[in-house]
Amino acid sequence: MIRKLALTVAAALSLTGGAALAAGGAGHVDDYDFSFEGPFGTYDQMQLQRGLQVYTEVCAACHGLKFVPLRMLGDQGGPALPEDQVRAYAEFYEVFDPEIDDFRAARPTDHFPESSLENAPDLSLMAKARAGFHGPYGTGLAQLFNGMGGAEYIASLLAGYTGEEKEEAGTVLYENVTFPGGWISMAPPLYGDDVEFADGASTELEAISQDVAAFLMWTAEPKQNARKQTGFIAVTFLIVLSVLLYLTNKRIWAPVKARAKASPAE
Ligand code: HEC
Repeated sequence: MIRKLALTVAAALSLTGGAALAAGGAGHVDDYDFSFEGPFGTYDQMQLQRGLQVYTEVCAACHGLKFVPLRMLGDQGGPALPEDQVRAYAEFYEVFDPEIDDFRAARPTDHFPESSLENAPDLSLMAKARAGFHGPYGTGLAQLFNGMGGAEYIASLLAGYTGEEKEEAGTVLYENVTFPGGWISMAPPLYGDDVEFADGASTELEAISQDVAAFLMWTAEPKQNARKQTGFIAVTFLIVLSVLLYLTNKRIWAPVKARAKASPAE
């Protein structure tokens, strides 16, 4: 009887487990090593510059970065382009200027343009809007140990196409092992060797996927380096303060304790 019951329970469990997998759920995300991970991690300036190039030459055809001012490309802790390069880069883009009621070349004070393809989401904050790591069972423990994984999600997504495609209600969908549900309407944007880097870095699919993911992490959190530095100073300060307070406390109460010891009856 008990054995039968156990078997039924096991069968039921395996059934629900299978259903959850079939429903898609979270896709597969690779745990890449990014330079900005951990409490002391910082952005790799060269990687951000490469990511900017991939974004400009490939992703910008459909996506936008409307919350990111172009002048930020010159910021320390970011791609840190020299001022004249920021200005030259801005001029690539055209923005609509309501004052002259016409389009003109962008200036560093303008923002990146918005998405030009209607159903392509803006990428400014995408690395913060997506999480690569969850669970187990919604506890968020994986995030505690691996970080939020927004950049990992993007890098895995770009390298996660299987090559399969299908048409559904007039839309072509591409199979992707990272995208929740398994089918995405973005055609594979990168194949490897899509760009040429001046610094001779690898242009393999996985490498450029990570470069552009790192760049998008920076657009989503441009002040990360400064935040970590301030956090480190604050924690050090608090530790020193705690030690001082502990010692001060001991010293203040020392005479009282000594008296209490001398006359325990009181
Ligand atoms: C041909 C147009 C096109 C190009 C080029 C393109 N994308 Fe997309 N992208 C889309 C569309 C459309 C979607 C919406 C897909 C969906 O929700 O099914 C999308 C969605 C995304 C998403 C969101 C996925 C999610 O979890 O919702 C990310 C991230 C992304 N693209 C990154 C990139 C990057 C990085 C590049 C450049 C390497 C790029 N895309 C190039 C059209 C494009």
